[in-house]
Formats: sequence, C-alpha cells, structure tokens
Amino acid sequence: MINERMNAALNEQVNAELYSAYLYLSMQAYFQKMNLKGFVNWMNVQVQEEMAHARGLYDYIQERGGEIVLEAIAKPDLKWNSPLQVFEDVLKHEQLVTSKINNLADIADETKDRAAGLFLQWYIKEQVEEEASVSDVLDTLKLIKSDSNALLALDRELQARVFNPPVIG
Ligand code: FEO
Repeated sequence: MINERMNAALNEQVNAELYSAYLYLSMQAYFQKMNLKGFVNWMNVQVQEEMAHARGLYDYIQERGGEIVLEAIAKPDLKWNSPLQVFEDVLKHEQLVTSKINNLADIADETKDRAAGLFLQWYIKEQVEEEASVSDVLDTLKLIKSDSNALLALDRELQARVFNPPVIG
C-alpha cells in the first residue's frame, strides 16, 4: 500500500504529464499553422510520450493500491513568435518537470518508500534524455536565426522522429 503523501504527489504528477501533453499539442497546432511538417511530427511524438508518462504513473498508483484523483488540466499559454521561442519554452518546461520528478524522489526518500524510489529512477533517466533532445533542437534553432533554408532542413530532419512506446518502471 502506498502512503498518502506519495499517492497525492504521484496524482499531481499525472496532472503535470497530461498538462505537458496539452502544452505540446498546442505547440503542434502552432507548427501546423506554419506548415512545418517535421516540427508537427516532433510535437506529435512528444504528446504521445507525455501521455505514456501519465499512464505509467497512473498504472503505478493502481498497482500500489492507491487512489486516482484527476484534477483539471490548466490551459496552455499560446504566445509564440518563432520556432525558437517555442523550443525555449519546451526546454523551460522540461526543466520544470525534471524538478518535479526530483521532488517526487525526495518524497520517496522522506517517506522511506523504497519501491517508489526505484520506480521513479526511470523518470529521472527519461528527463535527462528529454532535456538533451530538446536542447539539440534548440541549439540548432539558435544557429539558424532567420535562414529559412536551414529551418526547412531542420524540419526535414525532425520528420524522422518516431514514437516508441516506452516500457516504464
Ligand atoms: Fe514527461 Fe517531458 O516529461
């Protein structure tokens, strides 16, 4: 049985992951308007990853005999003037998620929940990968500046990203 504090914190993280999916869905719509199909694909994969992250936490709460409490998902802010701005926001958001996951790991330590601590290792490693893949795109966008040919080349590159359903835990 999971302790109440850990249960509540994991429910909050389900919400945070679903918000992430919602945020990336709004970014996908932004790129759809610009007709940048590779960026659309990248965001589409990102949305699916976030849904999988939420599902992984949901399943874990269930497995541990906890209670699922689903709160409202916040409305994402939709103010971007360029792909660069979008990816600056993606990196900021992923850094925030990393701090939330680290906080969950702290709660697992404080409540001596060894099983939750082990489970969260997967999310800790995933955040390293998430930040790295976002930083790759962001660094390229910084180099591109206003070179539209270079932007289209990056768009073609991002077309190659595929969703591989993760095995969590
Ligand atoms: Fe689920 Fe992008 O963190």
